[in-house]
Amino acid sequence: MSSNFVPFAAPWFAPALLAWYPRHRRDLPWRHTRDPYAIWLSEVILQQTRVKQGLPYYLDFITTYPTVHDLAAAPQDEVLRHWQGLGYYSRARNMHHTAQQVVQEHGGQFPGSYAELLKLRGVGQYTAAAIASFAYDEQVAVLDGNVYRVLARVFGITADIAAPASRKIFQQLADTLIPAEHPAEFNQAIMEFGAIQCTPVKPDCLFCPLQSQCYAFQHGMVQELPVKSKAKAGRTRYFHYLVLRYGDTLYMRKRGPKDIWEGLYDFALLETDAPELPAQEVVAAVEALGGQVAATLAEEPVRSLRHVLSHQKVEAKFHPVWLAAPLPDAALQKVGLTPYQLSQIEELPKSMLVTNYISSIAI
Ligand code: ADE
Repeated sequence: MSSNFVPFAAPWFAPALLAWYPRHRRDLPWRHTRDPYAIWLSEVILQQTRVKQGLPYYLDFITTYPTVHDLAAAPQDEVLRHWQGLGYYSRARNMHHTAQQVVQEHGGQFPGSYAELLKLRGVGQYTAAAIASFAYDEQVAVLDGNVYRVLARVFGITADIAAPASRKIFQQLADTLIPAEHPAEFNQAIMEFGAIQCTPVKPDCLFCPLQSQCYAFQHGMVQELPVKSKAKAGRTRYFHYLVLRYGDTLYMRKRGPKDIWEGLYDFALLETDAPELPAQEVVAAVEALGGQVAATLAEEPVRSLRHVLSHQKVEAKFHPVWLAAPLPDAALQKVGLTPYQLSQIEELPKSMLVTNYISSIAI
């Protein structure tokens, strides 16, 4: 078999996976339901993280919001707070919006087919295929990172899986492989096979039921496949947070649209091109807000934390500033700051960067 040859049929593939699956699968809560809402919830979370980390989030969401109506009716801040720690918050906002769409436009019923599911906000080909197959037994193949890897290795496909154009090759292949009988089992099985057996590093080729048919194994290419080009390094941004405090009050603001961490809470922010911000510039910035810096400014260290996102890196410095008087209302409005009691801060949705900072200072 030559590389990139897409077979018309590989009749051995689905039976081998379907035989492997019941003996190896993990017992996961979303595998015991046909409720499209619960399946959708699990898939949105699992697109963001691995099963081990995602499981407690799934249990939390399904307990807090047992139906799509509950999720749709929840305040956005509360939903973001439950999502906190998973990162990529636009996914949580989209999820919330989708729940409202399902309630308002579909009477709380998820659309009943792949094609209709695709029309929901934030529901792409993967999620639509997962819901349609797992909930409705529709014969549509899922493609996620695990599936790409299994197919690239077993069928010797060298197309770059990071290139959008490759999707078609893999989708065509997966569509020929998924059986009319048990499409849901097949989709679960191929993902589970990628997660457990055909892992990115150290796959268990020795005990693999596809060993004799596997192109990569037979050609010594297991380490080379799948081919995935590296994403180019993102830009670095320098955030200087002014952690303004007066007594038990801490000033925070909700981040606006069109930037990372929309809707999450952080502090007054100066973004600069330089990793350092001299203390006198911190004082000048506070005074420009109408704030009076108390004499104790130098007592607490400036803390540095960094956070790597998919397309950018944030190097943050947190400058603690004790105020001699509360900030005037005009200043609060100008920059969108709100005074919070320390006891209220825990409940606000925040980026991991800000959460880590707050826990590091033990306020
Ligand atoms: N990753 C994505 N979807 C999954 C599922 N349904 N089960 C296990 N892992 C997954």
